[in-house]
Amino acid sequence: MAKMLNSLLSLAALLTTAFAVNPIEIVNNKFYDSVTHKQFYIIGVDYQPGGSSGVGTGSDPLSDPTQCLRDFALLQKLGVNTIRVYSVDNTLDHDYCMSLLDTAGMYLLLDVNTPLSSQSLNRYEPNTTWTADYYSHIYSTIDAFKAYENVLGFFSGNEVVNDAASLAACPGYLRALQRDMKAYIKKTANRIIPVGYSTADDATIRSELGSYLTCGDDASAADFYGINTYEWCGDSSFTSSGYSTLTSAFANFSVPIFFSEYGCNTVSPRTFTEVTALYGDQMNEVFSGGLIYEYNEEDNNYGLVNTGGDSAQLLQDYVNLQSAYTNLSIPNITLSSTTATTTLPSCSGLNLDNWTIPAAPSGAPTAGAGNYGTLIELTAEELVVNSTVTDVSGNVISGLSVTAVGRAVSGSVSGTKSASASATGGEGKSGNGTTTVSEAVGMGVGVGMGMAVLAAVGAVVVVL
Ligand SMILES: *[C@@H]1O[C@H](CO)[C@@H](O)[C@H](O)[C@H]1NC(C)=O
Ligand SMILES: *[C@@H]1O[C@H](CO)[C@@H](O)[C@H](O)[C@H]1NC(C)=O
Ligand SMILES: *[C@@H]1O[C@H](CO)[C@@H](O)[C@H](O)[C@H]1NC(C)=O
Ligand SMILES: *[C@@H]1O[C@H](CO)[C@@H](O)[C@H](O)[C@H]1NC(C)=O
Ligand SMILES: *[C@@H]1O[C@H](CO)[C@@H](O)[C@H](O)[C@H]1NC(C)=O
Ligand SMILES: *[C@@H]1O[C@H](CO)[C@@H](O)[C@H](O)[C@H]1NC(C)=O
Repeated sequence: MAKMLNSLLSLAALLTTAFAVNPIEIVNNKFYDSVTHKQFYIIGVDYQPGGSSGVGTGSDPLSDPTQCLRDFALLQKLGVNTIRVYSVDNTLDHDYCMSLLDTAGMYLLLDVNTPLSSQSLNRYEPNTTWTADYYSHIYSTIDAFKAYENVLGFFSGNEVVNDAASLAACPGYLRALQRDMKAYIKKTANRIIPVGYSTADDATIRSELGSYLTCGDDASAADFYGINTYEWCGDSSFTSSGYSTLTSAFANFSVPIFFSEYGCNTVSPRTFTEVTALYGDQMNEVFSGGLIYEYNEEDNNYGLVNTGGDSAQLLQDYVNLQSAYTNLSIPNITLSSTTATTTLPSCSGLNLDNWTIPAAPSGAPTAGAGNYGTLIELTAEELVVNSTVTDVSGNVISGLSVTAVGRAVSGSVSGTKSASASATGGEGKSGNGTTTVSEAVGMGVGVGMGMAVLAAVGAVVVVL
């Protein structure tokens, strides 16, 4: 009761309140909201403005407040609940962008590698890049993001294996990386953050590698598997696109699977009819959604939005994807309390001879470089977009802002920048998080369901 009162007082006392989504957890081969226990479907967009050069000294996609505010407002209006970011500079301050993303009801899937030196594996000679510096980079990236509750997971790699030679050389290293990332998270984070892999658009590689990365010992197995696929172009269909073959190949896969990149652009503008298929009855028991490639228009013409400097213009693909998302009815499934946890399939029968799992690199550090992110409280003013955004016809869109959704986080959210992720005051970790939400509901602070997408997330919208 004292806790309840405290919570009420904080809610009343604070002119501004932070908002947060509930952490996502994995049970068997599906994602669930750890508080509401609703199955979570990724409704996502890949986000790396600037492409592979979008990370460099002093900048990355999650460190520029003006850009994050403009883009997250547009992603929220689009109906997205997850973004994937391919590379970050782990020395920067990501607190504002990550807190804003959280406030907007969105999760992050983050790749830990970057195109910069010592920050990725060489796919043909992984041993040459298996260094203490590489591990320092990996641990530093985990440190910088592990306290943000809206981190859905880390990718250990993206398309590292993309041909026969890399398939012969790399899988053992990927498994070793998964092992050490998972152990580091277990040792230093305050919740289990899943670690997975994103596989290239190649039917042979994705099946063989997928089986290898997810078999046997859970300590080094991928927690989820992302598939990059561009098979469905224009107004294709479940069968002629190859989606039916893909779906049967991965039926009953042992960990959650989803499209980590999709959205073929050979027919432009894209109509996104594959979106309806992915979340529809033929696929939604196998796949947990996907991420459309990609937010920003780059040279390869996959953009939903054209950005330049401080301004942005919506492209027809944005409008079409928004219609496709609006049209979805996401399955409403709650985890049964009687669901038994299954074990991963055995590795026997797979070619493991070439794929010895190496030890950590010699001299590998036991911790990162010491930049720890933490969720911060944002004022209402900090949610209002000042950048100039225009629609497809060039008309200025006025009144653009991020709408705060998710559960209200009362108490201090100033969190200390410490080695172990501190639970930011009042926030529920898995297990006690229901308290905050039900208190807010019980006290009649004002609860309504958000957009269809957010309802699917199981988010509670608290209107102040
Ligand atoms: C990496 O492995 C290759 C092939 O196994 C070997 O020839 C080479 O010496 C190794 N390089 C290092 C730096 O260990
Ligand atoms: C195993 O390694 C050998 C020698 O590097 C190579 O010729 C062979 O193709 C590899 N087999 C597989 C299945 O990757
Ligand atoms: C998947 O599992 C279901 C239920 O356990 C079973 O009925 C079905 O045959 C399995 N499908 C495949 C392709 O293994
Ligand atoms: C909306 O859903 C229906 C039925 O699932 C589908 O036939 C139609 O193509 C969808 N429209 C859009 C714009 O995705
Ligand atoms: C989802 O299902 C639960 C019952 O399992 C129900 O109480 C709830 O209203 C449903 N939500 C939506 C958005 O349909
Ligand atoms: C937006 O502009 C207003 C008025 O100039 C200013 O008060 C506010 O701080 C700006 N917001 C951001 C996030 O820059």
